[in-house]
Amino acid sequence: MISEQLKQKFIDAGQGHIFNFEKELNNEQCDILEKQLKSIDVTMIDNLYALNKENNNEDCEITPIPCAVQSELSREDYEKYNSVGTEIMSKGEYAVVTMAGGQGTRLGHNGPKGTYYVEIPEKISLFEIQCRRLKAQVAACGKEIPWYIMTSAENDAATREFFEANNYFGYSKEMIYFFKQYMLPMLDESGKLVLEEKYKIKEGADGHGGIFRAMLGNGVIDDMKRRGVKWIFVGGIDNILVQLADPCFLGYISCCGYKLGGKSLIKRDPYEKAGVFCKKNGKPFVVEYTEISSELAEMVDDKGEFVYGDAHILCNLFNIEVFEKMGSKGLPYHVAHKKTSYIDESGNKITPEKPNAYKYEAFIFDAFAYYDNMGIFRVKREHEFAPIKNKSGEDSPETAQKLYLDYASETKGV
Ligand code: UTP
Repeated sequence: MISEQLKQKFIDAGQGHIFNFEKELNNEQCDILEKQLKSIDVTMIDNLYALNKENNNEDCEITPIPCAVQSELSREDYEKYNSVGTEIMSKGEYAVVTMAGGQGTRLGHNGPKGTYYVEIPEKISLFEIQCRRLKAQVAACGKEIPWYIMTSAENDAATREFFEANNYFGYSKEMIYFFKQYMLPMLDESGKLVLEEKYKIKEGADGHGGIFRAMLGNGVIDDMKRRGVKWIFVGGIDNILVQLADPCFLGYISCCGYKLGGKSLIKRDPYEKAGVFCKKNGKPFVVEYTEISSELAEMVDDKGEFVYGDAHILCNLFNIEVFEKMGSKGLPYHVAHKKTSYIDESGNKITPEKPNAYKYEAFIFDAFAYYDNMGIFRVKREHEFAPIKNKSGEDSPETAQKLYLDYASETKGV
């Protein structure tokens, strides 16, 4: 039995439909529903739904943001940044966070995205590729680098099992720390909670911007402090060329006195599906490809280069202070219209053919605007970007494998 008091809170909030099948549930299912209800902040549901109607295009001034181009650094600067970055790493002040809590819906792989195998030409999982790169940097700087993996309720167990089954890819087990991001309920088009099962409300991971709250709430920041970490690289799981321990980037950000930085690369064309770095009302910002006007997307300077062409590739570096500050702040949520199966009023499971529900996600780059400045470091696409997003076509395993092999033949390494 679900407590009456708890039930009433949801009924008062107009969400009584979730108890329509209560009489059919066994004890175990009631417990599952009750536990889930306790974890959902009922007062937040209306606020989430109100976001659907919000106009995000409020008056704002978009201006360009300066960036450093890695290939244009003088030899002297390059060596200085490399040596400063390596020194920070060798003092044990560097950690890596891999965000692996996403659903990977476009790829459609059955399991966490990091457990997907590519052929380069050996078969290797996305997690192991990142681990190899970390191991190479550990060997170069002579100090172990703690590796934090962000998972979600949906894929946490499978992720841990995969690491265990693969003996942590030979990385020190005590240097790997898993933590779960938080979940948010999905809402249908009239603002009602979606029933995934008769005893279960549909929830989704709260977006990669959930990392700040999740790191603070799960003791990750404390663990980092205990280890003496000062700089944190945060990247995604699905870029198989991610340089997750790049001393030059670290040295650049640290020497320039920035608290945060992001790698960028030049957009392939004005309409590539990637957000670009800019300033919004004077603060660092990433404007999404869906939100940028064609005038700004196509704008070029007198050298013919895109003015808003530095794509954000989810390779960011933060001083630990940023995480301490942002962890308690909470970022705004963005709305995505998604297809999700649900239990209808008669108790039937329906698989819709078009989007039928809203998912709410925070974006990591919304944290940038809390700072006046950040370091943008433009790198070469062919060296650092081979994303796997789709099953086939653009940004698929096929394109990423080719990019990886081209890079490996150029550098003869991982
Ligand atoms: P994407 O935005 O590409 O999402 O994530 P995704 O879940 O991998 O794929 P789709 O959109 O469902 O097809 C970019 C990176 O951010 C992580 C992902 O795991 C990936 O590394 N991410 C995304 C999270 O860790 N949590 C989230 O809630 C969302």
